[in-house]
Amino acid sequence: MNILDIINKKRLNKELTYEELSYAFNGYLNKDIPDYQMSALLMAITINGLSFYETYNLTKIFVESGETYHFDEKVCDKHSTGGIGDTVTFIIAPILAALDIPIAKMSGRGLGITGGTIDKLESIPGYNINLTKEEYYKNIKECRIAIGAQTDNLVPLDKVIYALRDVTGTTESIPLIVSSIMSKKIACGASFIVIDIKCGEGALIKTEEDAKVLSEWLIKMGRKFNVNVKTLITPMDEPLSNSIGNALEVLEAIEVLKGKETKLTKVSLDVAATLIASYKGLLPESGYILAKEVLKNGKAYEAFEKWISTQGGDLSKIKVSDKVLTLRSAKDGQITHISALACGKLSIKLGAGRQTKDSKIDYSVGVKLLKNKGDRVKKGDVLAEIYTNDVNIDLSAEDLNLFTII
Ligand code: URA
Repeated sequence: MNILDIINKKRLNKELTYEELSYAFNGYLNKDIPDYQMSALLMAITINGLSFYETYNLTKIFVESGETYHFDEKVCDKHSTGGIGDTVTFIIAPILAALDIPIAKMSGRGLGITGGTIDKLESIPGYNINLTKEEYYKNIKECRIAIGAQTDNLVPLDKVIYALRDVTGTTESIPLIVSSIMSKKIACGASFIVIDIKCGEGALIKTEEDAKVLSEWLIKMGRKFNVNVKTLITPMDEPLSNSIGNALEVLEAIEVLKGKETKLTKVSLDVAATLIASYKGLLPESGYILAKEVLKNGKAYEAFEKWISTQGGDLSKIKVSDKVLTLRSAKDGQITHISALACGKLSIKLGAGRQTKDSKIDYSVGVKLLKNKGDRVKKGDVLAEIYTNDVNIDLSAEDLNLFTII
């Protein structure tokens, strides 16, 4: 077999066999195929696509590239394609645990302007993100939740391909997204999965049409692997919560778990209801009622505390910066839009995300939105607080253009 023939075949929009895909992708993992040839193949795939059958084979090749987890019981998993202010995992995992439903999950770090659950978990001092396979099994038994970082042994092929896609303009290919997401979920041993597809300016998927295609393919791929997949399509033009920045987001999730109703509450209840319904064979409305009950009666918060302490975290030590700048309205009017993209970019500039692959994150910084879409404001009203450790930070009008006020 020859890598050039494989690249040319895909360039001419012909279907690749399992053997050809395996030769190319495993060859890349083993370093027999260089970056430039894999980049050419990824671009040919991004332009011409893969059939569902090719995507199935690629997903299998990804899963087979590393170890797989097998729990003694059926467990749930949840995935989000990446958003701004998205701490849904922090809320739904304890809701499920409070209902004795296990959830095991390998999460990622921030990518581009979107935040990552692992970075947010690391803002809780002591939290151990590096769980072994045995710790996953043990924590699921003990507190029904196990959430850590992706290990080197689980789908190593996704790790190397994802890093290459990130820098070759090939992140938006639906077949590549499907194999990337589904291989990790399948290798991690989930039986019930909910995938929250974020759609809009602040997300990887920009259009509703692409979100629908992705949704269909994820569900169909789940069936091929005997996994129950449900999807939600969530708009991502506006931040999902009022906090953007690692520790700030965790603190807002805690408020929701303690009963405060924010915009995060609704999407979290929707995601939780979907998983509860799949797991228990109920209608989503019944799942919703159960989720709401444990959120209200404090059982979800109790499960949250147990989870964090089981993984070594100390909630009393979460720190946000005490240097706070204020963003004030320049005029009277009504807020018609809050830009997720602008909030994401500002939080990166403050140091809440990475500017380069090796940047160090400052967990204590970020943005707290004090006004919502639809609110009427007066000139001089505080719209947002900006948490920074550098009071001399140079923020331009463009950096601060978070709110549209008409
Ligand atoms: N999330 C993933 O894990 N992979 C993708 O390709 C996109 C989102």
